[in-house]
Amino acid sequence: MNHSIAVLPGDGIGPEVMAEAIKVLDAIAKKFNHEFTYRQALIGGAAFVKYGQHLPEETVEICKNSNAILFGSVGGPVDQQDQPKWKDCEKNALLGLRKIFDLAVNVRPAKVYPMLASLSPLKAEIIEKGIDLVIIRELVGGIYFGEHKTEGDLAHDVMSYDRAQIERPLHFAFQAAQKRRKKLTVVDKANVLDTSRLWRKVAQEMAPQYPNVAMDFLFVDNAAMQLIKNPSSFDVIVTENMFGDILSDIASVLPGSLGLMPSASLGNKLHLYEPIGGSAPDIAGQNKANPIAQILSTALMLRYSFALEEEAQAIENAVQTALESGARTGDIASSDELILSTVEMGQKILEKIL
Ligand code: IPM
Ligand code: MN
Repeated sequence: MNHSIAVLPGDGIGPEVMAEAIKVLDAIAKKFNHEFTYRQALIGGAAFVKYGQHLPEETVEICKNSNAILFGSVGGPVDQQDQPKWKDCEKNALLGLRKIFDLAVNVRPAKVYPMLASLSPLKAEIIEKGIDLVIIRELVGGIYFGEHKTEGDLAHDVMSYDRAQIERPLHFAFQAAQKRRKKLTVVDKANVLDTSRLWRKVAQEMAPQYPNVAMDFLFVDNAAMQLIKNPSSFDVIVTENMFGDILSDIASVLPGSLGLMPSASLGNKLHLYEPIGGSAPDIAGQNKANPIAQILSTALMLRYSFALEEEAQAIENAVQTALESGARTGDIASSDELILSTVEMGQKILEKIL
């Protein structure tokens, strides 16, 4: 079957890691007899240079006419944020795509690979219990998309949720829990916020539809603490937009490198896949970046957009095997290990698929 993919490499390390991900996809296409059509489009600073916009209409059109969006990363160096090319780049590109394609359900897995456990900043005794959790973040509502207004020295950012907006990520989270260890933690601030109380109410009303899932509630401040103290207690976490933003950054340090972490943002029919890490301008163009997060993002694409579970697992297994065989980019290497380039790491993973 033919699947068309909008490929948006973006800025910084985006193009380098994307090139490796495409090679892996090509290997999957060959092995499992699929056809993937790639449609490249500009986004972020790379788009600004040509169009004067971070999310040009042409790119949106290409996405609209594709079956999935494979996204690299956007954004420039911290000391150049006031230049037009980089100002509000992430916000314009990412929030724009999220809104246009109604990407309401953001899936951010965080898992510690046993062979990389020493990279984690947490103590061995915490890691040894096993960390494999997924954060489901509501992505097109809440304070991010409420009214923003500044009147002199007074500023407002409005946070609101209605039932339908809450139900969507919750349904996905319950179902994700059913396919995993059947535990769902709803994170909120129901001791203070009305929106959180509504989240709780809706979750409680939905729970009987998923009788085999054990649901509990945690305040977001406590959840932040538990993610560090006792991360193995979590299976699926579901939460609103900004809490999910913060908690997923906390969770992202558990595996030891952002270069390992993929994500999926699911819309009604079109979904977007991207590594969690940013554009890393400091190492861009040096063939140093870890392509694993981008490669694992393509596995999520095969799973969620194309229902190709076996193929998705083939990629995940190839990454696992490459890591087991000692393949390391700089971000995940200890001092005595051989450091592979982006291309070499891509090649190691590719070899495990062929
Ligand atoms: C993320 C990012 C974005 C967000 C920024 C760049 C707008 O931090 O995807 O988590 O806050 O959602
Ligand atoms: Mn974030």
